[in-house]
Amino acid sequence: MNITYSEAAKCFKLDMADASYVIGIVDEEKFVGHAYFGKKLGEEDVAYLLRTGEAPFTPEQNARDRLSFLDCFPMEYPTGGIGDFRESAIEVRDNGGHRALQLNLKDYRIYEGKKALPGLPATWGSEKDTRTLELTLEDKVLQVEVILSYSVFEGIDAVARHTKVINKGNAPVMLEKVMSASIDMDDREYDKLILHGSWARERHIDRTPLNYGVQSTASVRGESGHQQQPFMALLEKHATEDVGEVYGINLLYSGNCMTLVDKGQFDNVRLMSGINPARFGWKLNPGEEFQSPEAVLVYSSEGIGGMSRTFHDLYRTHLIRGEYRDKKRPILINNWEATYFDFDTDKLLAIAREASALGIEMLVMDDGWFGNRYDDNRALGDWDVNEEKIKGGLKYLVDEVNKLGMKFGIWFEPEMISPESELYRKHPDWAIQIPGRMAGLARNQLVLDMSRAEIQDYVYEKMAAVLRSANIEYVKWDMNRPLSDIGSLALSPECQGELFHRYVLGLYRLQERLITDFPHLLLENCSGGGARFDAGMLYYSPQIWCSDDTDAIERLMIQEGTALIYPLSAMGAHVSDCPNHAVGRVTPFETRGHVALAGTFGYELDVTKIPKEDREMIPEQVKMYHKYNDLVRMGDYYRIASYRENHMYDCYMVVKKDKSEALVTFVQVMGRPNSHSRRILLKGLAPEKTYRIEGEERTYLGSTLMQAGILVENIWGDFKSKLIHVIEA
Ligand code: DGJ
Repeated sequence: MNITYSEAAKCFKLDMADASYVIGIVDEEKFVGHAYFGKKLGEEDVAYLLRTGEAPFTPEQNARDRLSFLDCFPMEYPTGGIGDFRESAIEVRDNGGHRALQLNLKDYRIYEGKKALPGLPATWGSEKDTRTLELTLEDKVLQVEVILSYSVFEGIDAVARHTKVINKGNAPVMLEKVMSASIDMDDREYDKLILHGSWARERHIDRTPLNYGVQSTASVRGESGHQQQPFMALLEKHATEDVGEVYGINLLYSGNCMTLVDKGQFDNVRLMSGINPARFGWKLNPGEEFQSPEAVLVYSSEGIGGMSRTFHDLYRTHLIRGEYRDKKRPILINNWEATYFDFDTDKLLAIAREASALGIEMLVMDDGWFGNRYDDNRALGDWDVNEEKIKGGLKYLVDEVNKLGMKFGIWFEPEMISPESELYRKHPDWAIQIPGRMAGLARNQLVLDMSRAEIQDYVYEKMAAVLRSANIEYVKWDMNRPLSDIGSLALSPECQGELFHRYVLGLYRLQERLITDFPHLLLENCSGGGARFDAGMLYYSPQIWCSDDTDAIERLMIQEGTALIYPLSAMGAHVSDCPNHAVGRVTPFETRGHVALAGTFGYELDVTKIPKEDREMIPEQVKMYHKYNDLVRMGDYYRIASYRENHMYDCYMVVKKDKSEALVTFVQVMGRPNSHSRRILLKGLAPEKTYRIEGEERTYLGSTLMQAGILVENIWGDFKSKLIHVIEA
């Protein structure tokens, strides 16, 4: 890892483990161009890739032809209004109502380490393992400065980028778009890959050819959303899971986001990511700064799988924080699907007693313990324990659970307010709303205006009081509706466009405060299932609930898409009861356990009521979790076969970093008559090492397992699964 500047070539070069990123500065005005991002280069100068010698590209040679330069030069951070007609990374409206910005290099700085982003999630690193380049660009007319920041990390092929805008002039400017990162490349017949979905169907993989024009994936829901992830990958046409060049971009942000790709007239491809400019506006007064969220760009020459493993490594070592980052999480049992709102102390203790006897380590009390929350029509905001349900009080319940040797966790939905609540009766003005318009309900609730410090503080104090009242070691932070009717009673008319982002900043401030004041708390984010499964939330919580769909077969696709970017250690996954509450499917308890093993692992069922033969399997599953979780949490993940593609079976494996051990999960989704065993080629092992498959006598070379493969016997029946444990002999 290194960052250098060559005065001769007028290029900045960022070197990663196996990749390089080159930025070139051209002509007297100092336009900042993108020269290269790809496999690691030698010391040679590649400034020729900027094509400045090709007429009529050079502005100082032909000032009249400046537009043809601007309209095809590979910009590092493109602006609008002066002749680059492709998508711009930044849009500014000045005091006179004009929209033009020209950014040229003013200064730069290279340093060891990486600065934190105030109020925002970001990757972090030490002076030993991180280097940063800051380019200061300026528009001389408006006196607006833009600082582009680039960080690289030891051993990881990723660049973390963000953008800061500073108004150094005397008049306010309106920011209408500020992308975190943008990159211009030559098309190589790329495909684009995105993750789309819906409630209970989150993060399904979608790969299509990249067409001419603008294509984007975005959210305007105030959260990253179930529907479209803040992510896109560009893949060489022939790239597969294991070979070919792949570029991934992921935004570390939990609000409105947009990833956009624009394939233009000269087969140039512009890829960018940032806060969605739709419904965004930010008034920047003289002397003020605007900080964008961070976006991470990953390069892989080892196909899609290589990209995933790079994201996993980066997020596990440079994003997730706290003591649980590297720790096995307690196996939890959550009462949501077990009881919904119909529970009390006795029911919870009955579940806890049975669960602790089976080896489960934590009871999580979900929605319904506060105010008069007997159903989802009421009480959000009234964070006082309902002692009709929680008889004897919360401390009694927690103490009783602790006496069983179990930890205790609790659910909150801090950002919400029910119109039918004490809080709303006192503070109707605290809800997000447009004066004169009745704000729309979703799940019978409104959203608190988290941009306001007094509301954040109120919510925080209520939560903290509950957490201090008993030995609570885990919080599930839920959020069950998108933001609509966007209006804050605290913002002036010209600043209403700031609400979406200010809301997210308020959310981050609150979560930061929570994990600072309760450093031993295990926080799990959640949003009506997986509507806020994003890298922004991972900065605050080491795990996120993946989906309300706990069906083992649906989960194969949801977890496959999630693991495309996010580490398995972050994927909230539970074994639930059947027929499954989301799809009505019946799958074997064993398969449900094997699939949940790929995530944080836990249960979401009434353990006192499930069939005896299922209950009797739990101690074995608990052992399985303890045996394999270190490997799953910290290993390298390889996709072998996808049910989404073959409609028959799914297979993936995790390999220990030192390649001494691996775990293969095989799920035969649909049984097939008259079939022999299936040959599976393993991945990621050391070719020269000798391995054994647990339960078998013979040994295999790693090369044999990867080239010749293993035979997985045909399993009779649908939805059956098998774990194959490979150990160095
Ligand atoms: C949505 C979550 O995803 C569920 O797990 C559960 O906590 C409910 N909300 C409770 O309202």
